[in-house]
Amino acid sequence: MFSRRSGRDQSPNAIARFLAEAGPSPFDLTGSNPTTAGIQYPEALVSVLERAQAASRVYRPEAFGLLSAREALASLTASSAEDILLTASTSEAYAFLFKLLCDPGDSVLVPAPSYPLFEHLAELEGVRAIPYRLAYDGAWHVDMGSVRDAMEPNTRALVLVSPNNPTGHYTRDVELGELAGLGVPLISDEVFAPFWLLKPSPSPRAPEDCLVFTLDGLSKRAGLPQLKLGWTRVTGPDPARREARARLELIADTYLSVATPIQRALPELLPLFAEVTAGIASRCRENLAELSRALRGSPLTLLTPEAGWSAPLHLPRVASEEELVLGLLRDEGVLVQPGWFYDFEREPYVVVSLLTEPRVFQEGVARLVGHVTRVADG
Ligand SMILES: Cc1ncc(COP(=O)(O)O)c(C=O)c1O
Repeated sequence: MFSRRSGRDQSPNAIARFLAEAGPSPFDLTGSNPTTAGIQYPEALVSVLERAQAASRVYRPEAFGLLSAREALASLTASSAEDILLTASTSEAYAFLFKLLCDPGDSVLVPAPSYPLFEHLAELEGVRAIPYRLAYDGAWHVDMGSVRDAMEPNTRALVLVSPNNPTGHYTRDVELGELAGLGVPLISDEVFAPFWLLKPSPSPRAPEDCLVFTLDGLSKRAGLPQLKLGWTRVTGPDPARREARARLELIADTYLSVATPIQRALPELLPLFAEVTAGIASRCRENLAELSRALRGSPLTLLTPEAGWSAPLHLPRVASEEELVLGLLRDEGVLVQPGWFYDFEREPYVVVSLLTEPRVFQEGVARLVGHVTRVADG
């Protein structure tokens, strides 16, 4: 009765089963929801949204999004409003781009380890997500050999996430150049770009000779996923860019999914968001400093992120990843994300969220280090 693409196994894993029985863990180091993490939001937000709501009684949809909103984003991103498409989230932007570029059965290349939703987003469009390898040798880099091995005749796009979630590394210009030379469009997810941890982000440089779709949105930049707004910037040579825009217009016009009030509010909201970005970035930097301190002299290794909201840790191989994660939950009340969730190629890795409320983070990390050290000492 149902499609194969909606048939994903939804049975809970061992961590979900434990939490369903024992209740939430007191030291949850996996939170990625900024609206419940004690982040300060500007007071003016509510009045701007209310005014925009009141001004939205008449419906005049535009497939790419209201021009006033796209013009505000164009000045933020130093691009032209006609190259910017609004969607209800970056997840929806992926769905639109897969519709634009792929027929059912085609493939897109996605990084691993990275954001776990790609496989699902692709599957729901009848597309196969094929992983290429990000390798770590003191710094993360694209394993170009694995990209070439993963390419198929019907590979239609390559996704890159810069800075990547959860490794927090930027794609280097030289890598971008090589990826642009593959002959397929690039989808560059830059939702974590403003959240640098060590030094200000390098300004991203889209290659000129390749069609590139750059994704961003309010979920991360404004810490407001519930406002449901993402945007895609289309760059690259004509006529491919013009054709991409025309086809995207048709796709977007079929759904018209972005609510009018948020589009109307955007020009006034954008200047307010700098404060939220700065608040989240400073929280993440504070927790990263705490994490580095807590790990000193321990058997855990921090794979220091350059940006983003996460920090990956390599654990000594004294037990399986699942045993370590479940042991932490059971014995310490500490919840961390296992490496397999992001498709790390080896184990044991865990990922902690730098967004966590600092007191919970400090105690949770102390317990994590104590537990792993005791297990390692036998
Ligand atoms: C790399 C990456 N892209 C996109 C998103 C989702 O953003 P949105 O809420 O706009 O769909 C996330 C959310 O965690 C993410 O990690």
